[in-house]
Amino acid sequence: MKPTFGNRLKWASKFFTHGRKIASLTPSSRWLSGAMCRDVDPTQPQVILELGAGMGPVTSAVLERMHPESTLIAVELDPELHAVARHRCPGADVVLGSAVEIDEILDQRSVDQVDCFLSCLPTPSLPQKVNQCVIDAWRRRCTSGVFTQITQIPWYYWSMYSRVFHHVEFKLVTLNAPPAGVYHCRDLRDDYATLERLPGKPN
Ligand SMILES: C[S@@+](CC[C@H](N)C(=O)[O-])C[C@H]1O[C@@H](n2cnc3c(N)ncnc32)[C@H](O)[C@@H]1O
Repeated sequence: MKPTFGNRLKWASKFFTHGRKIASLTPSSRWLSGAMCRDVDPTQPQVILELGAGMGPVTSAVLERMHPESTLIAVELDPELHAVARHRCPGADVVLGSAVEIDEILDQRSVDQVDCFLSCLPTPSLPQKVNQCVIDAWRRRCTSGVFTQITQIPWYYWSMYSRVFHHVEFKLVTLNAPPAGVYHCRDLRDDYATLERLPGKPN
């Protein structure tokens, strides 16, 4: 189900009022959402976690691709966006909450490990302590060892992610308007938690 015209307007008004917390002028296109699903495996059950679901375009793309016995937990901070994603994606467990609560959210569902860890968060604009919390949870919980991160500005944050991970791949999505992309990061650096390496705003 595509976002309605009214929902697109709602998104745009949130962008103009909250700016960096929302990070993109429009919800992700199906091409960008599809690129986020690179490691979603239709052939076997997985636990998939998405952070920053917004109105659910990536959530929806994951639902279409994932194995029928997979579990998708999608977390969104904004109550209005959460309500839209929840309505749009009944097959997902769409949680109203913050990425800093990942451990509580997973523990409440008796989920120890996550196979696919997808971040749609506006990582560069978040406080460093939020990003540290997210990366720590990824390190402890994610079995695939891949940290997947959406971006609205192609390549711009390459060096930022390279300060945290040894290996960073970037997939450009030219069909998204404007062109955007997805980072696939692995191999966390031992000293990633030092302040000059952590993405985000100083605490
Ligand atoms: C760039 S948008 C991505 C939305 C959607 N996944 C898409 O691709 O269109 C970032 C989303 O992260 C949400 N967000 C920001 N901070 C958050 C946090 N601490 N925890 C959970 N979601 C957060 C915002 O409300 C927004 O919906």
